[in-house]
Amino acid sequence: MHYEARVNGDKDGLINIVLHGLKGPVDNTKYPDIMPGQEEHTDAYIASALSYIRNSFGNKQKVVSVDDVKEIRAASKGRTTAFTLAELNEWKSKQPKK
Ligand code: HEM
Repeated sequence: MHYEARVNGDKDGLINIVLHGLKGPVDNTKYPDIMPGQEEHTDAYIASALSYIRNSFGNKQKVVSVDDVKEIRAASKGRTTAFTLAELNEWKSKQPKK
């Protein structure tokens, strides 16, 4: 499936998508609506939901920890709108190297 790169790839991007949502075309597909951000979920809930999708449907990736979610929530604090994929890449490029 075409979204596998994002599900299996960088977990920071995935955490951002769940926290803040996603808008705009995804790989040339225009969806009729945006994905809403879900900041109201706890770090533990988001970590477990993402760990599940990264290890189901034939995926096998490192789990997402509660601390991972905590870190990205803090780093993206104050954001109030959904990301586009371009903004997500830009955001990533501005984060300090780990
Ligand atoms: C924990 C729950 C969720 C996860 C992990 C998740 C994950 C994702 C990911 C990874 C993408 C990008 C797909 C890609 O890379 O091709 C995406 C897109 C999208 N999701 Fe979700 N999602 C969740 C919940 C929801 C919910 C509740 C809705 C709707 C109410 C939703 C609606 C959408 C839509 C409409 C898009 C396309 C956005 C666009 O046009 O840019 N998602 N989701």
